Amino acid sequence: MPPFQIPGKIQEMQPIEILHHVWWIGAVDGNKRNFHGYSRSPKGTTYNAYLIQDEKNVIFDTVDEKWSGTMLCRLAHILPLEKIDYIVVNHTELDHSGSLPLLVEKCHPEKIFVSPQGKRFLDAQFDTEGWPVEVVKTGDSISIGQRTVQFIQTPMLHWPDSMFSYIPEDRLLISNDAFGQNIASTERFADAVPRPILLQAVKEYYGNIVLPFSPQVLKTLEAVASLHLDIETIAPDHGLIWRGSEDCDFILNAYRQLAEQKPQARALIVFDTMWNATERMARAIASGFEDSGIPCTLLDMRVCHHSDVMTALTDCGAVVVGSSTHNNNMLPQIADVLTYMGGLRPANRIGAAFGSYGWSGEAPALIQNHLAAMKMDLPEKPLKIAFSPKHKDLAACHDFGARLAQALKLRCELPVSE
Ligand code: FEO
Repeated sequence: MPPFQIPGKIQEMQPIEILHHVWWIGAVDGNKRNFHGYSRSPKGTTYNAYLIQDEKNVIFDTVDEKWSGTMLCRLAHILPLEKIDYIVVNHTELDHSGSLPLLVEKCHPEKIFVSPQGKRFLDAQFDTEGWPVEVVKTGDSISIGQRTVQFIQTPMLHWPDSMFSYIPEDRLLISNDAFGQNIASTERFADAVPRPILLQAVKEYYGNIVLPFSPQVLKTLEAVASLHLDIETIAPDHGLIWRGSEDCDFILNAYRQLAEQKPQARALIVFDTMWNATERMARAIASGFEDSGIPCTLLDMRVCHHSDVMTALTDCGAVVVGSSTHNNNMLPQIADVLTYMGGLRPANRIGAAFGSYGWSGEAPALIQNHLAAMKMDLPEKPLKIAFSPKHKDLAACHDFGARLAQALKLRCELPVSE
């Protein structure tokens, strides 16, 4: 069963019944590589939208505008569009609301449910005059026949407007961005995809999109736990659906761990280099980590993207950033990754800076300033070496890595070697 097949056209138009009278009517974009303009999605993405058929027929979220025809076609396989009664907008970012104007035009829904912030954002993004919008908050619920839909606001997960919809009769949580992954796949359920591939996609999504909102993730997990929701299916708006208590527990626990950001015994070295001097320093620093028992990931920003860095950082308790000095500054790719990383607000990391230079050597100190602004612990002064490192310089780099490894071990409560 090969994962990540891009579905054929005919298959693309079929709805999929994920639970009795609960349908997936989303879109699979196997060629999406630039996600929201800032993150890579190397396996494409999936926009999930759902239909529940009951006495009231309810749609939960829509898809990117580009895929509105696909969503409407899937929907039309199930019922005539004018039979849609309600639309629930769990999140107004355009990957989920982009097809809403067309859906409203075609379906003439009786009501559109949205959070208070969601109403403001809908009004700001679309011509909503005449739309039958009804604002809902945590604790509100609606009856749709045999089922109830309970609303739970989840601000900043991913935007201030975000909310979950919980259907107790189906033990179904429609979770919007939370618990999603950027995967374009024929499979609809997480249990059909090898777990390591899935976990990597979860980390990629979390590290690049959800990370700055980790405190809110922990609050949301607490709030969901306090509601004692019985959850058998978690249906996010991107990627694969988690079914069964084992898979639901897996993703809830994965989110808890990702949000807690406890120190992890792995180092990430990120560098850019002009004449390979800084790269040689990076390799020597890596050997210092590795000889001290700390595995190391090296990312060369000449070939990597800033979103690769944030994915790798989800596994790393230390980040060491190096750049040649160029025009009294750091190289542009390093400025890019530091700006991006700063916005994503990683917590509980050790940081360090290094680099080769010719005559001025500002880059390592500038990098250190960025890491300090991210509130990282900085146990070492920036390490800089003039021109090409000699053997003694590489030995100093090795020792620099070894000392950082010891500092990381102390945070990870691992035995520290002499
Ligand atoms: Fe998938 Fe925040 O949108």
